[in-house]
Amino acid sequence: MESKGSPALHLLLERRMNRRRLLGGGAELAALSVVTRAPYAQTGSTSGLTFPRVAPSKADAVVVPDGYRAEVVLRWGDPLFADSVPLDARAVESGGLLTPEAAEAQAQQFGYNCDGIGLFPLEGDRQLLCVNHETPMPALMFPGWVEARDARALGAYVRDRPAVVAHMQAAVGLSVVELTRRSTWSYVRGSRYNRRVTTHSALEIAGPARGHALLNPRGETVPLAFGTFGNCAAGTTPWGTYVTAEENIDDYFGNGAAAKLDAAAEAAHRRFGFRLRDSAYRWEYADPRFDAAANPAESLKFGWIVELDPFDPTSRPKKRTALGRFKHEGATTVVAADGRAVVYMGDDQQFEYFYKFVSRDTSDATRPERNRDLLDNGTLYVARFDDDGRGEWLPLVHRAQSELTPERGFASQADVVLRCREAADRLGATPLDRPEDVAVNPLTGNVYFSCTQNLGRDGGIVDVGGRPLDTRTDRTSPRAPNTAGHILEVIEQGGDAAATSFKWEIFLLAGAPTDRQLVSVLPPEHAGSLAAELTYFGGATDVGELSAFANPDNLGFDADGNLWIVTDGNQPGGFNDGCFACPTDGPDRGRVRQFMSGPVGAEVCGCTFTADGGSLFLTLQHPGGAGSATNPQSHWPDGGEAAPRPSVVAIQPEAPTRKFGS
Ligand code: FEO
Ligand code: CA
Ligand code: CA
Repeated sequence: MESKGSPALHLLLERRMNRRRLLGGGAELAALSVVTRAPYAQTGSTSGLTFPRVAPSKADAVVVPDGYRAEVVLRWGDPLFADSVPLDARAVESGGLLTPEAAEAQAQQFGYNCDGIGLFPLEGDRQLLCVNHETPMPALMFPGWVEARDARALGAYVRDRPAVVAHMQAAVGLSVVELTRRSTWSYVRGSRYNRRVTTHSALEIAGPARGHALLNPRGETVPLAFGTFGNCAAGTTPWGTYVTAEENIDDYFGNGAAAKLDAAAEAAHRRFGFRLRDSAYRWEYADPRFDAAANPAESLKFGWIVELDPFDPTSRPKKRTALGRFKHEGATTVVAADGRAVVYMGDDQQFEYFYKFVSRDTSDATRPERNRDLLDNGTLYVARFDDDGRGEWLPLVHRAQSELTPERGFASQADVVLRCREAADRLGATPLDRPEDVAVNPLTGNVYFSCTQNLGRDGGIVDVGGRPLDTRTDRTSPRAPNTAGHILEVIEQGGDAAATSFKWEIFLLAGAPTDRQLVSVLPPEHAGSLAAELTYFGGATDVGELSAFANPDNLGFDADGNLWIVTDGNQPGGFNDGCFACPTDGPDRGRVRQFMSGPVGAEVCGCTFTADGGSLFLTLQHPGGAGSATNPQSHWPDGGEAAPRPSVVAIQPEAPTRKFGS
């Protein structure tokens, strides 16, 4: 994610507007972006990214460049409230988390697998930090889980120890935590802002699907959903809220084969589905809410964007159904030239789509309360990428003379957002390679999103929810199989985020660049078919200047328009995941250099700068991910014999006057 929002975003937007004024308006800016890649090419200045790059690492440590320091700010199990009990990470291996008391304690502690984050400045050196806790990792939390799984006896394991389900249900969701900086960042235990949202918290279902019979069969005026989980990337809004994306929620529901579905329910599940047999976490063995046979409509309450007001710990978060139901990776919000809010979103599954939502009403930065329900009304679009480098935003709107009518099987807009993927199929959206996080360059407005990988690009025809799908390469994904992933660049028509058409190109084809495997231009006639090993780094030509990387996931921008990339997957050479940075414009466009390496087995997430640009926050998800509670493969961050702990890290230059990235 980027530092998307609130005061930080205001500053960035203001800069962008000032640039526009300098350049004489939005249209000229867009043209300039395409043709000359302003601003650095014109001024001859460089990106400012002069940090000594770090070498790829296999160490069980966070590695940053000389002159920078990385501090652990929050760890899984840290006590958030005055009377919370801290986790004893040395007791995990011996079964310390198998009791009901441990599960109760977890609900008052920082959760597991921190992923997307949002930062909200308070006065002085204080910040509010919102954090997603994407998934539990039962193999790393509970001794015996892996052995029971291998013996195909996990159902009995969970039935005998229902506390493990209670524990996982408390470990996912969200945390809101106050932070303070003296010279280093730390969290404020017992702050009045501190909050946990777990599987049992009440959230309101808002937007067009709030009255849908499958979500609200009794016609409640305030329909509720309990919990949020699978929260992957996230963002902040200019009006000071946190928007978090429910992604792999199908992992949480089991026993789908026994579910009896009527035609409406069958249609609602067709393109998203739930697991036919066991869920990934086996919650259905202890909690019938997650048994799809007992509660076939429950999973439809998940897979949405959730909006939360971090400044009011008593506020009820809302599921914003106007933004569609799919495997939401993130939500990156900007303000269009006319003041409407625009939210960019990826659907992270093979051959799924790229979306944006444009609000009906304009946002009012001076009166945030007027934006309270801005995300309930507007137009949801899905992207079609054409071979000529242009693209269209296709409106997912229920209306006459469209593909989305009652005659064609969509009863209402509620149906369209609930069956969003199917509606997008009908409109001819372009299937992509797992669209993940999105970031918008604050200087140009150009949009970047990761396609993390797609091993299914094998040239065959596959059936996806009843949809025959051609898996050949195309211009959006020229390599097969796409193991290393890539980043696409979208340039909105006229530089307007609310535009209905755009230009696009490949910005990066990730991998290990060598003299033989780095392409410096992507000629259109070759762009649909490149050897799987070839790489393209935005036009960069000097392999000695580039860092190998793969599987870009979360993205962020600094205020100078440099893209920051964090990775999730098998890195070239078997090195650990890391954080990388590169300019998107000027002579150094695409010069990707490694800034940080994570500990063993950890995916690097977060990727958000403070408003002053002085600190970069990263989250480290599942350190020691391939191990187990009794066979840990990482002891980060506590060291010794402690269990690994997913944690939030803040990185700053050691010298306070040094500019971040230099
Ligand atoms: Fe949760 Fe798409 O990564
Ligand atoms: Ca992700
Ligand atoms: Ca990921």
